[in-house]
Amino acid sequence: MTVRSLSRFWNFLQSNGGFYIAVASIALVLVLGIHNLAFSQQPVRISVLMQALEAAQWQPLVEEFEKQNPDIDLHIVEGPNATNLVEDLYTSSFLLGDSPYDLVYMDIVWTPKFAAAGWLTDLSDRISDEELSKFLEGDVNGGRYNDGLYRIPFRSDAGMLYYRSDLLEAAGFEPPETVEDLTRISQALMENGDVEWGYVWQGKQYEGLAAMFVELLEGFGGFWIDPETQAVGLDSPETIAAVEFLKNTLENGISPPGVTTYQEEEARRFFQNGKAAFMRNWPYVWTLANAEDSPVAGKIAIKPMVHQPEYDSGACQGGWGLGMVNTTKHPEEAWRVIEFITSKAAQKQFVLETGYVPSRRSLFTDPDIVAKYSHYPQLLEVQENSVLRPPIAQYAQASDILQRYLSAALTDRLSPERAMQRAAEETRRLLGR
Ligand code: GLC
Repeated sequence: MTVRSLSRFWNFLQSNGGFYIAVASIALVLVLGIHNLAFSQQPVRISVLMQALEAAQWQPLVEEFEKQNPDIDLHIVEGPNATNLVEDLYTSSFLLGDSPYDLVYMDIVWTPKFAAAGWLTDLSDRISDEELSKFLEGDVNGGRYNDGLYRIPFRSDAGMLYYRSDLLEAAGFEPPETVEDLTRISQALMENGDVEWGYVWQGKQYEGLAAMFVELLEGFGGFWIDPETQAVGLDSPETIAAVEFLKNTLENGISPPGVTTYQEEEARRFFQNGKAAFMRNWPYVWTLANAEDSPVAGKIAIKPMVHQPEYDSGACQGGWGLGMVNTTKHPEEAWRVIEFITSKAAQKQFVLETGYVPSRRSLFTDPDIVAKYSHYPQLLEVQENSVLRPPIAQYAQASDILQRYLSAALTDRLSPERAMQRAAEETRRLLGR
């Protein structure tokens, strides 16, 4: 309808008196009303990005959430299967402005950077201390930055040593305590022809390498960055000895050369196919390696990571939780997603379906969970004694430096000593020391 025909229509209405005007106005009000009603009934879309592997595992939770909250469309965007790559995607979406995400499904190590950059909403006022005390302390602390709380924990994680209990028992070995035990038992089992390789771990240049390395650092008495003093310990003799141990696993042939390209999943498949006696990995492996079609089902056990005789081991504190993007137009709906996903019921469902580790303490001893995963009460102990990667705003860069130089040492481009000296220098420069 053109402007001219509209004005002709209006003139017609006027010349035909108030009756037509009244009818037309009522019609207009009705049409607008129906349109608004239809519009307001469109569910609000809440978007979150995560690794594709986990996106598939979230599906039952998403369905349950949407059933209980028909006014919200929880939209999961699939990302690459490596924490640092997903972090990069979130980071560029925030730097470009107008981020398409309402929530951040956050690795524990992203908190300081995302919070310091002002990309997240402080959630302190939305949750009581009493409610927070039901979660593992390390997981809650991993969501704090300065005085704020930026991430509510969903699932926890801690690195551990998996081993072939059947092979060790048959050959009369106790599970290894020290790195020396691990090497000796590996060599003996390989010589016997029981297994092709001794030890698999995450040796690729990515975040998983740094996570694995903090466990060894603890067990060798070294340190990376002291978050209080910002002192850097990468060039200490203890740290260099930890790198030498990793390099030796390759040189003495207990670890396959391919390990320097392995992430968690490559290591898991190798171990699950019965090709190695020991593996460093996260708790999620337990369910998969014990599944009916797994060649090592029922033949494996877990224990804390090996260490030097004079030190104790530490499990790397990992884990995932939800933060709220501070530019979201729907903070109330976003919070309802956080509340639902981190609730006891949702965590229980997710843990039973996937074998991940909960972040709520009571679930470690929940009868249904223990019936399925008898080792969870012990896992609680491992979780509660875990070691954090340095919680500093420059963590992503610090980790990148460590990954680069560790990888250079493992692939023979630099000696462990030289690599760690350079890593220490660069890290000190990064921290302005
Ligand atoms: C696991 C951990 C996470 C860690 C990552 C490294 O997903 O939960 O904290 O950064 O592995 O690959």
